[in-house]
Amino acid sequence: MDLNSKPIAAKTGHSPRSVTILGSTRSVGCNTVELVESNPGDYVVEALTANRNVKLLVEQSLRLKPNTAVVADPDSYQELKDALAGSGIEAAAGIDALVEAADRPADWVMASIVGAAGLKPTLTAVRRGATIGLANKECLVSAGEMFVNEVDAHGATLIPVDSEHSAIFQVFDFDNADRVHRIILTASGGPFRELTLDQMASMSPEQAVAHPNWDMGAKISVDSATMMNKGLELIEAFHLFPVSGDQIEILVHPQSVIHSMVDYVDGSVLAQLGTPDMRTPIAYALAWPNRMAAHAPRLELAEIATLTFETPDMERFPALRLARETLNAGGAAATVMNAANEVAVRHFLDKNIGFLDIVRIVEETLNAAPKGRLNNLDDVAEADAEGRRIAEALILELANK
Ligand SMILES: NC(=O)c1ccc[n+]([C@@H]2O[C@H](COP(=O)([O-])OP(=O)(O)OC[C@H]3O[C@@H](n4cnc5c(N)ncnc54)[C@H](OP(=O)(O)O)[C@@H]3O)[C@@H](O)[C@H]2O)c1
Repeated sequence: MDLNSKPIAAKTGHSPRSVTILGSTRSVGCNTVELVESNPGDYVVEALTANRNVKLLVEQSLRLKPNTAVVADPDSYQELKDALAGSGIEAAAGIDALVEAADRPADWVMASIVGAAGLKPTLTAVRRGATIGLANKECLVSAGEMFVNEVDAHGATLIPVDSEHSAIFQVFDFDNADRVHRIILTASGGPFRELTLDQMASMSPEQAVAHPNWDMGAKISVDSATMMNKGLELIEAFHLFPVSGDQIEILVHPQSVIHSMVDYVDGSVLAQLGTPDMRTPIAYALAWPNRMAAHAPRLELAEIATLTFETPDMERFPALRLARETLNAGGAAATVMNAANEVAVRHFLDKNIGFLDIVRIVEETLNAAPKGRLNNLDDVAEADAEGRRIAEALILELANK
């Protein structure tokens, strides 16, 4: 057997890595499932979870044979239980079951539940010292310092899955962090990069989710269109890497080939490049500290020929300004911003508000909400709930105008 085609476990003499995929039924989760399946000798699956997509969860479970499969939605329990009857796979439902799934002894956990709903289960895996592939940026934005403190206290390891943070992680010299001049976080600019504010005003959810480069879930696609995604990533980068907020710059790079860069004091700029395909950063996190084949299209720079860059436009994309202000404000501001954004994006997807209302609602929520210090996770939950309450009230007010 060619050594390069051997499972990593066979090459290293380690036993296969046990993995849990929290949120296995959409973009990041499905890609993780695909990578696990393509390397059967290297991984065994402990748990798979979804919100309510029972059909796909059952298909994945029957192929990957986890010990348990969980749906967050209790109403989907009977369907899941019936479909898994006789398979030897335990079926469970509800938030507590999700937390129990995260608590099962998997070495590696993919955190790909969307939004603040991912916080509790991800923290559960953190608290037992697991290695976490972190796709869910919202939980890091929302709980920030609390989350990082838990990671440190329990000896957990965070491997970023967001392509930008994976790129930085791969080129950041952690032993010489004081030699880093700045991080350059690249942004595609999203589907509305060239539109005027007037044109954006009439954009539909269907147009907002049609991302030019990446195939992603609805929420993150809308975040890319408002560029709130880059704002969340700015805060995510602040918590993941030992730099100040002022050392993180955002650069629009429409081709999404350079996934981000680290600029050192001597003028060397180290970048990670690749085709815009989430299998690459997911594979990096899944195999870390090794590498595995990801079967993403290879990067052919001669075919691309031109890479371009632009300064982001803060007037047309005020989410970037809001995120920067939020980072500078500290305390509960990021928790409130994230909560209000989740509410506003859901109402936009449900066609209750217009595209430009999303960031307007977030800003008004930030203006109205108390943004005190966060001392513990109860404070995070309280600030999150308050952000959601204010955003819902503002949206109701808008609807009644
Ligand atoms: N997609 C990307 O390329 C990408 C890139 C970087 C980072 N991310 C981040 O990765 C996360 C996942 O994004 P995604 O695009 O893969 O998919 P997604 O549509 O956002 O959903 C992810 C998963 O979460 C589950 N889920 C949704 N609401 C839940 C709830 N309340 N409780 C428990 N589970 C719930 C979904 O289950 P159902 O299928 O049953 O609804 C699905 O399995 C997000 O935080 C996103 O920001 C994504």
